Amino acid sequence: MSLTLRYMTLHDVAQVAAIDRLAFDLPWSERSYAYEVMESTYSYMVVLEAANEAAPVGWRRWLAPLNGRVQTHRIVGYGGLWNIMSEAHISTIAVHPDYRGRGWGEILLAGMVRRSLALNAGYVALEVRVSNTRAQNLYRKYEFETISVKAKYYRNNNEDAYDMRLTLTPGAKLRFQERFAALRSAHPFTDTYTTHEPPRQHVSERKD
Ligand SMILES: CC(C)(COP(=O)(O)OP(=O)(O)OC[C@H]1O[C@@H](n2cnc3c(N)ncnc32)[C@H](O)[C@@H]1OP(=O)(O)O)[C@@H](O)C(=O)NCCC(=O)NCCS
Repeated sequence: MSLTLRYMTLHDVAQVAAIDRLAFDLPWSERSYAYEVMESTYSYMVVLEAANEAAPVGWRRWLAPLNGRVQTHRIVGYGGLWNIMSEAHISTIAVHPDYRGRGWGEILLAGMVRRSLALNAGYVALEVRVSNTRAQNLYRKYEFETISVKAKYYRNNNEDAYDMRLTLTPGAKLRFQERFAALRSAHPFTDTYTTHEPPRQHVSERKD
């Protein structure tokens, strides 16, 4: 299986929204994702895509190339980053339940931190449910610290949120780059998200 970290496109939105419904009590709509991808000028939406090679079965055998292998692609996780002034804000992150615990959530988080560095953000902020210790462990692994509690932040059950922050000091940047390199050698993945600017076709297509 090969992994690619890349910008989310409109074609990904249905798969992303399906994972979102499995991951959260208050999922975003497909329309919200489409807005983030096509309209928002401060969003940097990311997906992690897994490609599998398999021998085709049934009629697909006749469509397969001569070597007889076909590739299937699937979105296994996604994230959302907003960049406003010097703040980068992780708006969402999730891995499909079938693929959790493999280091793939970490790839998404590390990818968004690396994109924040490329954007010259001073810090990365996020909110997380106080009950969500799994996600908090991931954030703490990347040196996020709790800076305050937002009371009754989640409207479905009035749960509090931890306001967490990673301040991108020179030392933190250095430690992050080492961690990113180690992650990349443990889980090799193709990365066009942290190395390229977003396509932003919608912006250049605007007539106003
Ligand atoms: C949070 C989430 C994205 C983590 O993704 P994942 O692929 O399962 O996590 P990874 O395998 O990359 O693990 C990375 C780190 O997360 C933490 N973690 C992951 N699974 C954990 C578990 N079951 N218990 C405790 N900590 C866990 C650990 O710190 C782990 O690092 P380690 O392997 O060195 O111990 C995923 O669980 C998810 O989609 N949850 C539902 C959506 C959600 O809660 N999003 C966060 C909203 S703020």
